[in-house]
Amino acid sequence: MASDASKLPCHIAVIMDGNGRWARERGLPRTEGHRAGAESIRGIVEECNRLGVRYLTLYAFSAENWRRPQNEIHALMALLEFFLKQETPDLVRNGVRLQAIGRLHDLPEACQRQLHASIEATAGGSGLTLILALSYGGREEIVDGVKSLFRHIQEGHVDIAMLDPELFSKHLYTRYYPDPDLMIRTSGEMRLSNFLLWQLSYTEMVITRKFWPDFRKDDLHAALEEFASRKRRYGGL
Ligand code: IPE
Ligand code: IPE
Ligand code: MG
Repeated sequence: MASDASKLPCHIAVIMDGNGRWARERGLPRTEGHRAGAESIRGIVEECNRLGVRYLTLYAFSAENWRRPQNEIHALMALLEFFLKQETPDLVRNGVRLQAIGRLHDLPEACQRQLHASIEATAGGSGLTLILALSYGGREEIVDGVKSLFRHIQEGHVDIAMLDPELFSKHLYTRYYPDPDLMIRTSGEMRLSNFLLWQLSYTEMVITRKFWPDFRKDDLHAALEEFASRKRRYGGL
């Protein structure tokens, strides 16, 4: 399993789902589920860093999550700001480099400021790169990528005849990162929910029934074991 470095995913992406159901099962408000979910992040980041995983992308807030009630959005944004502020010293100490993808300018100003401060503070980290997907949508990313490509064509930097998937991927938010090797979704939902539509084309998927606030190191190890047992064929034999 994880001890076989050749079978350790370089990039893990996680759809952290089930915070609301976790809270409902306990008779708590949904926001308590989000609080517990934020706690889960710490252990998983630490373990990925310890194992030598290079990239961890966490789906924290989708483009569609803006459709939720204002009070829930407000609580999530406040939690994000608090979480970043609280965790940044530990991220720095552990050499974790923070990055973010998505339409970040849609976030409240205070969140954007804290996010950029945390990104800057952790920029020297040489361990795990932790990528938060915030106000992120896969289709929106592709559309933004097409716009970026168009500008480059208009400015004469790109010849359309040269366009191929590799060149296009340089216009996505994820241009600095390899595609995920493993995608984990918690809470049993069998869908992508607009997450990394382009990048997941050959990613191995592991779906667990556990809710995100219950997801622990053991669950990560189980997913890594499952990943290590897969034969990735990429359409070949
Ligand atoms: C995931 O948990 C966190 C976010 C989408 C922000 P949910 O809030 O979707 O929890 P469920 O799916 O309702 O249980
Ligand atoms: C996906 O979960 C988004 C995040 C985990 C941030 P959702 O709970 O929003 O997805 P759906 O609505 O069940 O597809
Ligand atoms: Mg959900």
